[in-house]
Amino acid sequence: MSALFITNIGSLVGLHPQETLMLRGNQMQGLPTLENAWVLCEDGKISDFGKMDQLPVDLPNTAFTHDAKGGFVFPSWCDSHTHIVFAASREEEFVMKIDGKSYEDIAAAGGGILNSARKLQLASEEQLYNSAAIRLTDMIKQGTGAVEIKSGYGLTTDSELKMLRVIRKLKDNFQIPVKASFLAAHAYPPEYKNNHEGYIKLIIDEMLPKIADEGLADYMDAFCEQGFFSVDDTDRLLQAGAKYGLKPKIHANQLSVSGGVQVGVKHQAISVDHLEATDDAVIESLKSGDTIATLLPSCSFYINIPFANARGLINANIPVAVATDYNPGSTPSGNMNLVVSLACIKLRMRPEEAINAATINGAAAMELSREVGSIAKGKKANLFITRPMSSLAFLPYSFGQSQIDTIVLNGKIS
Ligand code: NIG
Ligand code: FE
Repeated sequence: MSALFITNIGSLVGLHPQETLMLRGNQMQGLPTLENAWVLCEDGKISDFGKMDQLPVDLPNTAFTHDAKGGFVFPSWCDSHTHIVFAASREEEFVMKIDGKSYEDIAAAGGGILNSARKLQLASEEQLYNSAAIRLTDMIKQGTGAVEIKSGYGLTTDSELKMLRVIRKLKDNFQIPVKASFLAAHAYPPEYKNNHEGYIKLIIDEMLPKIADEGLADYMDAFCEQGFFSVDDTDRLLQAGAKYGLKPKIHANQLSVSGGVQVGVKHQAISVDHLEATDDAVIESLKSGDTIATLLPSCSFYINIPFANARGLINANIPVAVATDYNPGSTPSGNMNLVVSLACIKLRMRPEEAINAATINGAAAMELSREVGSIAKGKKANLFITRPMSSLAFLPYSFGQSQIDTIVLNGKIS
């Protein structure tokens, strides 16, 4: 039995009880903390915590003690939206953007998702695994302790399966929870440019049964956007996914108000993601039900599109999560610390709201909040310890810099 006893914690942050699975907008302001604290991790889980003036009586004598020296302890970041399996970076598009081309211009010129798909189709499973493993290792070093990863750069049956098998291997080999979303509906491949129906049928009749057969995906995703997948396409795809038990987590309203949020809510999506374009009807549609609005501020920052209306969503009592969207086109960064800073600076979320969005609500957006996302007895001991900080707000305030000193995964310093 292994035990880790972390002492002299300046503030133990995010003490939501085990039964709190998600926070709606108005609750997101509440982030319980304990000052001058200790936390005990046993057998990979958080087993107890308390104040330094009341140390545990039954501390296992095998426990390894780590002195946090006034650093804060947070539950690891839960990054609920990424595309980290890809074959090549796209910095040539970065330069096109500097020269004034928009995300849509680049996609129309054969760049974008189709550029990544061409390269991924040529890459081996091993190459894809090795590069994704480096990205995931970097993300873990930056405090991420649970992640969702999407397919969607395959766009053929073989290559979509190849991507999902890479994600499964990441699940098997990494110590953090990993969820997989099936996103063949990311772009129409060139050979289906004039035969959208043919591609939808390929996804529904050929890809989905194979993926379900191998148990390769947890969620069904689609890019519901003008020039990509229509509301009707998305509706059919989500219905087809549901037949195989795949709940939706979808891309909606990135470039325009697309109807994607409403179709997601109709299918009780776990989350609708992006929402850079929002109107009153979008907010209204999310008020009932438990669909989470997942906002991706580093995507807005990187491709220079509007930032989502986080305040409107939170004030309407809608649950909001934040995630990186790490991918080679719209967000070549997997840094949740930056996302939390941007959530404060650009989405005008208060530090407590941003931290909740990146922990407990991120966990909820992967249906993992029984396991991770807060400091609660019985939860997985995936944590990070910061340098000493003057206050909680110092973390997002010191944007672009990491305050993280130590990573704990499954109750062990890693
Ligand atoms: O979430 N919007 C669609 N998918 C990705 C970008 C994909 C790409 O450009 O490669 C996103 O931003
Ligand atoms: Fe995305």
